[in-house]
Amino acid sequence: MTPIRSEPQLDEEFDGLRPRNLDEFVGQRGARDQLRVAIDAARGRGEAPDHILFSGLPGLGKTSLAQIVARETGSTLHSTTGPALERARDLAGILSQLRDGDCLFIDEVHRIPAAVEEYLYPAMEDYSVDLVIDQGTNSRTVKLRLAKFTLLGATTREGLLSAPFRSRFGMLIRLEPYPPEELIEIVTRSARLLQIQIDDAATLEISQRARGTPRVANRFLRRVRDYAQVQGAARVTLDITKKAFEALRVDGLGLEQLDREILSVLARQGGPVGLKTIAAAIGEADDTVENLYEPFLLRQGLLERTPRGRVLTELGFAAIGRTPRAEVQ
Ligand SMILES: Nc1ncnc2c1ncn2[C@@H]1O[C@H](COP(=O)(O)OP(=O)(O)O)[C@@H](O)[C@H]1O
Ligand SMILES: [Mg+2]
Repeated sequence: MTPIRSEPQLDEEFDGLRPRNLDEFVGQRGARDQLRVAIDAARGRGEAPDHILFSGLPGLGKTSLAQIVARETGSTLHSTTGPALERARDLAGILSQLRDGDCLFIDEVHRIPAAVEEYLYPAMEDYSVDLVIDQGTNSRTVKLRLAKFTLLGATTREGLLSAPFRSRFGMLIRLEPYPPEELIEIVTRSARLLQIQIDDAATLEISQRARGTPRVANRFLRRVRDYAQVQGAARVTLDITKKAFEALRVDGLGLEQLDREILSVLARQGGPVGLKTIAAAIGEADDTVENLYEPFLLRQGLLERTPRGRVLTELGFAAIGRTPRAEVQ
């Protein structure tokens, strides 16, 4: 059976930077307002909140919000991921362990196999699942009553969810990239928690290069801190920060080596390039290119999607210090 975890996730981000309640969660005003109402109402009724789907690009705060919902409603959080639910039995095993008011967090919910997903429908709607027991002529179906739980789903690809699945969530929370002023707030908070002495200009610089993503902002902050420490600097200044980014090969837009490689593949090709070709050229999975790297490049207008593949824009050429004409020769 799929292991089920009821503790906070012991991942690379279990470092005290995750906001622990809704008030510590910076920005995303609309999402926070909606969740505040849902949490308070559920608490008032002494019930579990409705099922909630969190969608948005990697690193925007989906897992954090799911953990906050569980904590603020005082419920036990169980976590698993879509790909881990290979068979309906895996899911039934997890569901049958839940108690009234528990939250079940399923990360990458768009990657639940279709056959397993269908089992979730009655579980979400009527809190029951049909189990097939025994085999051959003895086989029969029994209805298993479940506790009244809350499903918290997270996805980077909301569009891949089937309509019947999506419609069974009572709330849809979409997270957007953060504007610089909110990233400044996040970096300031993280620096305080990590006890880093940092100048405002350095905080601003990190926020501007963070590609609208809190996870990236926190990662950059840690790397800049490391650099300052190695240089024997007591404070993170703007000068130190710029040098750290240079050493990290992060440019003014926040592009890193792999981002530039993607742009270079397109520059070399001249015409449209398919996703698979790009992924193969840089040695990453299609998924990673599409979900992790491409959204920012698209948003910045560095590349465009056409029916025949991805093409580099003039801005894209400029970002890697080339001009379209030079490539044609
Ligand atoms: N709104 C926010 N305020 C403060 N920190 C945040 C916020 N959103 C994300 N973070 C930070 O970014 C990290 C990544 O967030 P996470 O919830 O894991 O993103 P996702 O699950 O969407 O990939 C967290 O560990 C947290 O430190
Ligand atoms: Mg996550």
